Amino acid sequence: PTPIQGFNDKVCTIQGDITKLQVDAIVNAANRGLRGGGGVDGAIQRAAGPQLLKECATLGGCETGSAKITGAYNLPCNKVIHAVGPIFDSLEKSEPLLRSCYRKSLSLAAENDCKTVAFPAISTGVYGYPSKDAALAAIREVYSFLKKPEGQKLEKIIFCNFLDKDVEAYAQILPTVFPP
Ligand code: APR
Repeated sequence: PTPIQGFNDKVCTIQGDITKLQVDAIVNAANRGLRGGGGVDGAIQRAAGPQLLKECATLGGCETGSAKITGAYNLPCNKVIHAVGPIFDSLEKSEPLLRSCYRKSLSLAAENDCKTVAFPAISTGVYGYPSKDAALAAIREVYSFLKKPEGQKLEKIIFCNFLDKDVEAYAQILPTVFPP
């Protein structure tokens, strides 16, 4: 999209562990079974405690490109949004699915009055999505959501990256979509 001014105060990037953030909702990079795993999912499940996996088990899984919301148990945030990103195939096939899981996560946040939301770099770990392509898809989707009426409820979107490759991708791409 053509960059326009006005939303850059609503997004930021940080490097660190998403499980430590005291925000309204953190997003998990989950799998279709919502049955836990490694990576950020493992970190979230460990920090939340076993009740989180129990609640996840009642949800009947989640389609790729979609998301479901649960409580946060022992985490310092209020809600966890479990988003299922695509296993990277081609950009043509994977980008719409990755964008859709960001869009669905943002909708769930807005519906549940979560005004501050933190995202990990979904699909860029085990699922193999190239960091820069994933960052561009994520940032563009957040941008178009914030422009919509339902996006106006959201106050802060935090891109919480863990690895240097993702930090670098966001540092390069964020200013092109959200100009300072
Ligand atoms: N905080 C923030 N980000 C983290 C953390 C953390 N504590 N731990 C890992 N990450 C980052 C990774 O560096 C990566 O950039 O999260 C990003 C997503 O990587 P994965 O967790 O591997 O997620 P994904 O690629 O979407 O694969 C999902 O992994 O563990 C399974 O259950 C999960 O099957 C699902 C698959």
